[in-house]
Amino acid sequence: MSSLSIIYFSGTGNTEVVANLLSQNLSKTYTVDVFKVEDILKQKLKYESGKYDIIGIGYPIYGFNAPLIIYDFVNSLNISAKKKVFLFSTCAASAYINEVASYCLKRELTKKGYYVFYEKQFYIAPNFAIQYKDDFIKQLYNAAILRTKEMAEDIKLNKENARKDNFIPNLFRWIVISEKWWWWALGKDFRILKSCNLCQKCIKFCPRDNIYIKNNHIKFKWNCIACYRCVYSCPNKAIAGRLYNFAIFKNGYNIRKIIENDQLKGNYLPDKIDNTPLKTFDKYLFQTFSNYLHKD
Ligand SMILES: Cc1cc2nc3c(=O)[nH]c(=O)nc-3n(C[C@H](O)[C@H](O)[C@H](O)COP(=O)(O)O)c2cc1C
Ligand code: SF4
Ligand code: SF4
Repeated sequence: MSSLSIIYFSGTGNTEVVANLLSQNLSKTYTVDVFKVEDILKQKLKYESGKYDIIGIGYPIYGFNAPLIIYDFVNSLNISAKKKVFLFSTCAASAYINEVASYCLKRELTKKGYYVFYEKQFYIAPNFAIQYKDDFIKQLYNAAILRTKEMAEDIKLNKENARKDNFIPNLFRWIVISEKWWWWALGKDFRILKSCNLCQKCIKFCPRDNIYIKNNHIKFKWNCIACYRCVYSCPNKAIAGRLYNFAIFKNGYNIRKIIENDQLKGNYLPDKIDNTPLKTFDKYLFQTFSNYLHKD
């Protein structure tokens, strides 16, 4: 049996859900090992790319790009001779600028000798600024179950499905290259509310060791990747924003809870809208996602 490793980063669980679905499907054909990227970078787990025939890399899209932590992982990889790599990403919306989000990452992998043969995006839900209804997230999750099956089958059959990008995504590179300052600044925008009881869970969970305690206060360094894990995993909802407070969902974000909620049937958007009047935002969702949701 060929061996395959999946390395993923997931700030708030969406990408983890997809990584696990993919792993379940691929395990029928390959011996699959799954790693969280921060466990590799913090050297909690030893990762040897040479042991695997195929490598899968998964990440959420941040500002039309892969997170910095994924680049750190790629930089840490040994040079390879055409080892096969597939990419999967999760994001909030279907848009060209999201579709080309893998452009810079593919360049880095290619420079190191890796061959990206397949990539796929999964629309799950935003965890930032705009909140989807839980039932719609369940519907997107149900679609991810089908799409991961499809993807595992494609990989088994050696199908090629990597974007052949022209010069246009190259024009976005300057945005993408300058983004790290935005993420660092976003991390500095956090403030701690009185409800903090110094449990230190945020320190433990931060993938970048960006949080520390000083004089009985939680502080943030300049090393944030804006993953929002600390915000949504704080048991006391004690992390808020200053300028970017609007972007934080007041009731939190927990994809696992949504998936496990049997009351949610995942039929938020209808198959057709002939006789169904939809609110403006739902109409936008229908136009954007119906192809993704209902494709056979
Ligand atoms: C700082 C930040 C930037 C984001 N940028 C984008 C984006 O450019 N396009 C998009 O569709 N979603 C964007 N999102 C939403 C995430 O990509 C989406 O919620 C993702 O599935 C989160 O995955 P995770 O739960 O594995 O961290 C952004 C989220 C954050 C926190
Ligand atoms: S997880 Fe929340 S309550 Fe715990 S130390 Fe961090 S901010 Fe405070
Ligand atoms: S400080 Fe919070 S948002 Fe920034 S990297 Fe750490 S967990 Fe993620």
